[in-house]
Amino acid sequence: MSASLLTVSDLSMRFGGLLAVDGIAFDVAPQEVFAIIGPNGAGKTTVFNCISGFYKPTTGAIALEGRSIAGHSSHHVANHGVVRTFQNVRLFKSMTVLENLLVAQHRQHHAPPLSGLFNTRSYRRSEERKIHEALRWLDIMGLRAYANREAGNLAYGHQRRLEIARCMITGPRLLMLDEPAAGLNPQEKKDLQQLIDQLRRDHGVTVLLIEHDMGLVMGVSERILVMEYGRPIALGTPEAVRNDERVIKAYLGEA
Ligand SMILES: Nc1ncnc2c1ncn2[C@@H]1O[C@H](COP(=O)(O)OP(=O)(O)OP(=O)(O)O)[C@@H](O)[C@H]1O
Ligand SMILES: [Mg+2]
Repeated sequence: MSASLLTVSDLSMRFGGLLAVDGIAFDVAPQEVFAIIGPNGAGKTTVFNCISGFYKPTTGAIALEGRSIAGHSSHHVANHGVVRTFQNVRLFKSMTVLENLLVAQHRQHHAPPLSGLFNTRSYRRSEERKIHEALRWLDIMGLRAYANREAGNLAYGHQRRLEIARCMITGPRLLMLDEPAAGLNPQEKKDLQQLIDQLRRDHGVTVLLIEHDMGLVMGVSERILVMEYGRPIALGTPEAVRNDERVIKAYLGEA
């Protein structure tokens, strides 16, 4: 048994002539908040795509509690409790907020075939449980008042929270957030930081975070990996990373 929840070693991903990820290694402890930062194009989202099964890495190992998931399908990885949000919000925009959370649960639990068609008692009971669970998550996220709104009509900050709710309702072990603060106002960013703390504390989830907002990253993360041109340039506590010369150079340039 490994003490880490997620272990990534020697990860690389090549797109034709471009080595977008090159020799990345890190591990994430259970209930840790671990951030990946770096300039645009550094390869952060590509690392997420490799972990979540959207890409098959060119080299490297990815293990969840010591068991390999590298190259597994995104469906398979999700079934192991690894869920993610995307840099651009991806909701079912013409469905209601509540329906978005029901769909997320349908994908997870498979009812026996035809039980819905015949509207059996156990089917109805399981539908009621799903609605109950969806409303519980809308309460936690402060979205209960919008349950019957079309998701696409929600304010952007609320859409971002709904995306996180849609992940959390599947009971994940690893929650991967790709720039969750993008487009949020200062108050919404503060709320997001509290939410991440709360999800970890009250729901035992481990968080892997990509984020450009340094206030949020420094406030919420236990450790930070800094990438530049696909390569790791620093890994450590917020304090260590903030004072690292290579990191300062990567962000501020040579001047
Ligand atoms: N499917 C792909 N095919 C070809 N090149 C890709 C693909 N996906 C990403 N890249 C390239 O890989 C590099 C890393 O991209 P990636 O999206 O991982 O960066 P990022 O660190 O997430 O950047 P940002 O902060 O702008 O989101 C970029 O040069 C990008 O153009
Ligand atoms: Mg990205």
